[in-house]
Amino acid sequence: MRKTDWWKDAVIYQIYPKSFCDSDGDGIGDIKGIISKLDYLEKLGIDAIWLCPIFKSPQADNGYDISDYTDIDPMFGDMADMEKLIKEAKERNIGIILDMVLNHSSDEHPWFKEAKKSRDNKFHDYYVWRDNKDGQLPNDMRATFGGPAWTYVPEVDRFYFHQFAIAQPDLNWDNPELREELYRIMNFWIEKGVCGFRFDVIDQVAKEPDNKVTANGANLHDYLREMNLKTFHGKNLVTVGETWSATTDTAKLFSNPDGSEFSMVFQFEHILLDQIPGKEKWDLAPLKLTELKKVMNKWQTELYGKGWNSLFWNNHDLPRIVSRWGNDSDEFREVSAKMLATILYGMQGTPYIYQGEELGMTNADLDIKDCKDIETLNMYAERLEKGYDVEDVMTSIHARGRDNARTPMQWNDTENSGFTTGEPWLKVNDNYKHINALDEDVDQNSVLNYYRALIKLRKKYDVFKDGRYVDLLPTDERVYAYERKGEKYTLTVVCNFTKENDVPVNISIPDKDKLIISNYCDAGDDKLLRPFESRMYMSIM
Ligand code: GLC
Repeated sequence: MRKTDWWKDAVIYQIYPKSFCDSDGDGIGDIKGIISKLDYLEKLGIDAIWLCPIFKSPQADNGYDISDYTDIDPMFGDMADMEKLIKEAKERNIGIILDMVLNHSSDEHPWFKEAKKSRDNKFHDYYVWRDNKDGQLPNDMRATFGGPAWTYVPEVDRFYFHQFAIAQPDLNWDNPELREELYRIMNFWIEKGVCGFRFDVIDQVAKEPDNKVTANGANLHDYLREMNLKTFHGKNLVTVGETWSATTDTAKLFSNPDGSEFSMVFQFEHILLDQIPGKEKWDLAPLKLTELKKVMNKWQTELYGKGWNSLFWNNHDLPRIVSRWGNDSDEFREVSAKMLATILYGMQGTPYIYQGEELGMTNADLDIKDCKDIETLNMYAERLEKGYDVEDVMTSIHARGRDNARTPMQWNDTENSGFTTGEPWLKVNDNYKHINALDEDVDQNSVLNYYRALIKLRKKYDVFKDGRYVDLLPTDERVYAYERKGEKYTLTVVCNFTKENDVPVNISIPDKDKLIISNYCDAGDDKLLRPFESRMYMSIM
């Protein structure tokens, strides 16, 4: 039995099943493949796996379009495999967190197939419809993956609402029967022994299309509290809400310590910092370190005692952090990947590792013909049609495309990186020959071994969980330095975010403080940092 709030000390590892490990040579990762890598994950020291959707799905959006919430997609295996995964992971003290995509289903879900048949069908109201008035779209709302957010169905002479792809009709949470169905699904999985849920775009479920509201609809928190009570309440599970819209105020509701909603929020304010404000994610702006600090400082201090953060740089929707805010050249890749881990792992919250991040995997620079992601492909077509320059579009895709994170896991230096014996569904990144788990396992200075060490440290000192955060250099554009003050210990983290050498650290580290981890092999200097150098000190008060 795990202790209450166990997730505050936990490290969560995210698996994108399609790209993790293929056991049967069809080029697609599967559940048996994941089982075969549990020892690797145990050795890394993680406590839970967030498993991206493995449910039955036509895969229009790689599983985020579910056609049966209580069955496994045959390409990943079957229910027996899933039960075995839950059991074998548990034997290693690793829990399985399922990805619940409850804002929308697939258009091939039996509910939607029924819903389309007639307005009187019981399932019609499981979705969000508006009447056809003279062939006009109900309004001008756009879908995240391009085009209008409304699609016409002649059989019922109505439009249905979809915030994402046409194949992802939005579910109507205003219908209590629909909500009950969703709770039944969650309870089905709780009984199977999962340790928690990640809720996909959960802040968007209480949409109000007539008011052009997607996130934070008026009924949102009522629905979430109801879901909590009817499913996981009091069961000591970990729950995390993906909330692009969260502010520190709404996050205090989403992750209220009274346990009425979720354990924690997964919010993106820091991730949006290198995008031109008000524009799309494809419109790039450089990152300013002081802006990053401002955002981090706000979340670290305002949620203290009032909520709980997720700590992450990466997931399956985001480019690789080492290629983004680190430096993926041969010279600086390892050191900058370790620096980025250090800055995050000293903070308060629950860290997430996205598969391959622990190896310092990089963006992939795929040709457009190798890209598979619906978002990227739709954007490419749309922007070319609008007359954008193809090179600019490819620059955006290389910087931001979701396929960057989805290239297969790099296990070793054999063909296709040991991911599959077949033809991989998405091209393996060419750099697998020198970036792979097998080599990093035995290299004491690898990114992988650095992650293992950081995870051990987090488990050793309570200050990681409880310490009060103070930014020590809020106006410095090169060095990020902060402190966490705990009852017994003070942790100080100092990181050089640049590739410059001899960068001065304008704080003094007391002599009695012990350097507990650093990303350079030799001790170095407290006062002058080398490129991307990061140092963590611990003091006893
Ligand atoms: C979330 C998922 C993303 C998916 C979208 C629609 O943002 O992380 O992969 O495409 O929701 O379900």
